[in-house]
Amino acid sequence: MGGKSRGLRVALAAAPAALATLATTASPAAAAPSVRAGQGTGTLRALAAAAGHRWIGAAVDTTALAHERGYASVLARQFSSVTAENVMKWETVESRRGAEDYGQADRLVAFARRNHMMVRGHNLVWHSQLPAWLAQGADDGTLTHAQLSSILHRHVVDEVSHFRGRVYAWDVVNEPLNEDGTLRETVWYDALGRSYIAKALEWAHAADPRAKLYLNDYGIEAAGPKSDGMYALAKSLLALHVPLDGIGFESHLDIRYPFPAGMARNLRRFAALGLDVAVTEADVRIALPGTAAERARQADDYGRLVEACLSVRRCVSFTVWGFTDRHSWIPGFFPGEGAADLYDRSLQPKPAYRAVHDALAAAGSSRS
Ligand code: XIL
Repeated sequence: MGGKSRGLRVALAAAPAALATLATTASPAAAAPSVRAGQGTGTLRALAAAAGHRWIGAAVDTTALAHERGYASVLARQFSSVTAENVMKWETVESRRGAEDYGQADRLVAFARRNHMMVRGHNLVWHSQLPAWLAQGADDGTLTHAQLSSILHRHVVDEVSHFRGRVYAWDVVNEPLNEDGTLRETVWYDALGRSYIAKALEWAHAADPRAKLYLNDYGIEAAGPKSDGMYALAKSLLALHVPLDGIGFESHLDIRYPFPAGMARNLRRFAALGLDVAVTEADVRIALPGTAAERARQADDYGRLVEACLSVRRCVSFTVWGFTDRHSWIPGFFPGEGAADLYDRSLQPKPAYRAVHDALAAAGSSRS
């Protein structure tokens, strides 16, 4: 079985040697980030390490990282993992066919290494943010199904190989499901059939056998048709010995809707398959400008998301999709909404930060 047979892998490939020596067992959940990497007591990263060796991550806007000192320092101080918000996506790494450019992503990985942070790779196979040459060629038929298959193979192998040993986990297939739990009919589904998912996982595993390989989607936090679809998909891949290690739960919440019912229980059924689980893209949006009561409800949702993850031993990481309202995808994608992050536009912590902090601290103190 893919997940279990490889369960004894040391997953600290992306961590410096000093940390790697502390890793006596397999999963990131079992690997011990050092106190040094915590960079101060009471930070989110120190608390997450104490709460069962979890990673606390943030999606990173690399332009902000390069130009805003405050942004970089909060990121390094508070978080122990990074995800590239955009710069590892196909559109960025191969905007011109055949001219792969990992420069921006490499700078993020270098920042992570300097600050003793893990790197989650996002993402390899998706229907969105494809380079124009690829999207157009698929659309107008100038790229045949056979060509698309070999283009996908080369992309997965090249990108995973490039970051081999530096990215500890990959979102190999992103957002493969429809709302009813069936497979989304993407360019990849059309070209390769449903086996595109198993193939992408196999190709990624061959390129970096130590990387943890995930499927990632939104709207699967609560039990329901979409989550059931992911569960059935994961189970069928494992039955075929496909190298699948984990499931990513994006967790883009909106305070207009109830908190996903039974999320911890839902995470646990995936863990029971022998998989890791992770909260990969958490944010909680509110209608702008937002009231104090709405920020309190938002804080509550963040706290509950962290608690759901912490209550599951195999929930190895908790990542927010941006950490400051100053750089957030929400206003651009959900008109009229925003203020979805832990810090405000001036990089001051919001009640949501406090809720995450307190949920991590409570878990840590109950363990000691
Ligand atoms: C978003 C980024 O945050 C935006 O900057 C970009 O314009 C579009 O993509 N699910 C995912 C992420 O898996 O890759 C998306 O990121 C947000 C939804």
